Amino acid sequence: MNTALAEPNQSASRFDGVRQDDAFSRLDESDDMLFYATDRFVQHLDAVALATVQKIIGELLNEESPIILDLMASWDSHLPAHLNATRVVGLGLNRKELDENKLLSEIVIHDLNANPLLPFPDAMFDAVINTVSVDYMTKPFEVFREVARVLKPGGLFLVIFSNRMFPEKATKLWQISSEAERVAMVQEFFRSAKSYEEPKVFVSRGRPRPEDDRYAHLGIPSDPIYAVYADSVGGQTGKKPRPELEASDEGSMTVQTVSEKSKTIKDTLQCPHCGQSMKKWVPPNSPFSTWDVDYMYICFNDECPYVVRGWGVMDRQGNRGMSYRVMYDPQRDSCLTIPIISLHALKEGIVD
Ligand SMILES: C[S@@+](CC[C@H](N)C(=O)[O-])C[C@H]1O[C@@H](n2cnc3c(N)ncnc32)[C@H](O)[C@@H]1O
Repeated sequence: MNTALAEPNQSASRFDGVRQDDAFSRLDESDDMLFYATDRFVQHLDAVALATVQKIIGELLNEESPIILDLMASWDSHLPAHLNATRVVGLGLNRKELDENKLLSEIVIHDLNANPLLPFPDAMFDAVINTVSVDYMTKPFEVFREVARVLKPGGLFLVIFSNRMFPEKATKLWQISSEAERVAMVQEFFRSAKSYEEPKVFVSRGRPRPEDDRYAHLGIPSDPIYAVYADSVGGQTGKKPRPELEASDEGSMTVQTVSEKSKTIKDTLQCPHCGQSMKKWVPPNSPFSTWDVDYMYICFNDECPYVVRGWGVMDRQGNRGMSYRVMYDPQRDSCLTIPIISLHALKEGIVD
């Protein structure tokens, strides 16, 4: 990756002033062992995002009885129960957290930033996973090369991340990059090692949080999940092909289907996006109300792809924590969109 980010003739950008030699610097440059000496028995993601992480791992690791390295591990490796691993090695910094990890068969305390060389022989692992931790690597190019070395040919390196971090310990380059740029950055880490197939990307964004999540009432979507992954080169012949991950909005209808379904909404009163029955809804009775209709029909399915995608669409437009629902006006026979600030919004007006 080209980390000489401030070329003299480039127009001003937030990358200006980031030099190659400090792109991977951190606010807290003290020994990582000190920062991670504090036990953190917390989850770094909400429950929906965690389930996505587990699903990704479960789908991609299709080896029978694999030997796995959880790189930068803690008390939970997010491995699904059906994964019949022969051995799971956890490499991290906090022994107490690793001791609590019931999935690990071995624990290795090793500071990757102090020494990016992995203390394992060549071709030892079928898969290496790195979850919500790549942002803390100060020597990612070396680490990605090392991972390729300890993977069996055709073995999987799966890097999963979100948008939360310990700002003291995340690298400068990571912090100033957008989420899309972080995906490109991790792809570059893979490519620069020259030992992997072309890395693939999976993104899950804009899903609703679980109802019981403490931020659900704020309408903030579930933590986004990005997975960048590749097999190490070689070993492809006769190997079971790795499954393609389904895109997060897989199953939603095409634009054409939606427009066809919108034509029949009058007869069916079904949401053109998810097919569920829309509910009769009465606008608020307020002296300031500008509604000129007695009732509408709204799709109140919280998992409707239209709502799920809406969080991400609104977020990218600067409207954080907002989405929208499909509304049908029976008097004008027209389909509209109504914004929401949480999954609870508008529900007090449901009358059937
Ligand atoms: C945000 S936690 C993620 C833990 C775990 N992978 C998970 O999914 O919950 C970051 C982890 O990276 C590990 N870590 C941070 N810096 C490290 C370093 N320099 N060398 C090795 N591990 C490190 C810490 O021990 C910590 O458990």
